[in-house]
Amino acid sequence: MNQLELIQALPKAELHVHIEGTFEPELMFEIAQRNHIDIPYKSVEEVKQAYNFHNLQSFLDIYYAGANVLIHEQDFYDLAWAYFEKCAEDHVVHTEMFFDPQTHTDRGIAFATVIQGLKRACDDAQSKLGISSHLIMCFLRHLSEEAAFQTLEQALPFKEQIIAVGLDSSEVGHPPSKFERVFAKAREEGFLVVAHAGEEGPAEYVWEALDLLRVNRIDHGVRSEEDPMLMQRLIAEKMPLTVCPLSNLKLCVVDDMAQHNIRRLLQKGVHVTVNSDDPSYFGGYMNDNFIAITKALNLSNDELKQLAKNSFEASFIPAAEKQKWAKEIDTLA
Ligand code: ADE
Ligand code: ZN
Repeated sequence: MNQLELIQALPKAELHVHIEGTFEPELMFEIAQRNHIDIPYKSVEEVKQAYNFHNLQSFLDIYYAGANVLIHEQDFYDLAWAYFEKCAEDHVVHTEMFFDPQTHTDRGIAFATVIQGLKRACDDAQSKLGISSHLIMCFLRHLSEEAAFQTLEQALPFKEQIIAVGLDSSEVGHPPSKFERVFAKAREEGFLVVAHAGEEGPAEYVWEALDLLRVNRIDHGVRSEEDPMLMQRLIAEKMPLTVCPLSNLKLCVVDDMAQHNIRRLLQKGVHVTVNSDDPSYFGGYMNDNFIAITKALNLSNDELKQLAKNSFEASFIPAAEKQKWAKEIDTLA
């Protein structure tokens, strides 16, 4: 099997995808129309032209604006269902999706509307496509600690449907330490925890995510390489990094895919995984990310298999399931 055939054949888990970041312009127009909401674009082409980012914030401004058309439970269902169809195409068999409740509750949408729409799509993905999934609720780090506490409170009645809490949005200036207490409360309530750190922010933020938030995974974390002591810690603890290559390119975290450090991190023994982050905005879903790094960094078949295995190992599925997928990956040539 050549590399491209292997990428398609490998079963994969996605651990870093924002459901609001899977919103394709076509669906955005359709939902905007049926909800009678104006969007500042005349055509799908015009939307795509706006997707020219120079850093994280320039993306976030457009991403939050797009989410404004989501109003009804069915809208959230349609959004998630469209993503699950992409998973099926890419042989992503398990996904752990982020959602940003504050983006919606701050516009007067009920927490229940959001989660019920997403959950119904997750249930249908299992029964109709055989794709398993978990939901991870993210706090927006540019908002206050108090707002995060309120969001956690709103989530408690839906605890059974949310596996973990996470931390996303504008990184620099909003360190993990700002959310130490709310993460402690979330852990007490039984949530697993993850956090974006070391995307645009420094290695120091990764230390804080580990020591103060006590995360089970680091989202992005590519800037960890700047700190040799941190690298030792990540390797010793087998701490997963959910790396998003096309995102890093589009948000200018790297200038060129050939300079991406995912292969180096893998070779040094860091538990890296491949993910799409906000695929509708960054030019591709799971397999597009695999293809981009394989072309730029000339990954071997063994490295591709290792990345796919890492994705299950770093996921929140039971150990027996992890072993099952590892075995299946081993059978591929
Ligand atoms: N929200 C959606 N995508 C994000 C990213 N790459 N970093 C931080 N927050 C995000
Ligand atoms: Zn992200």
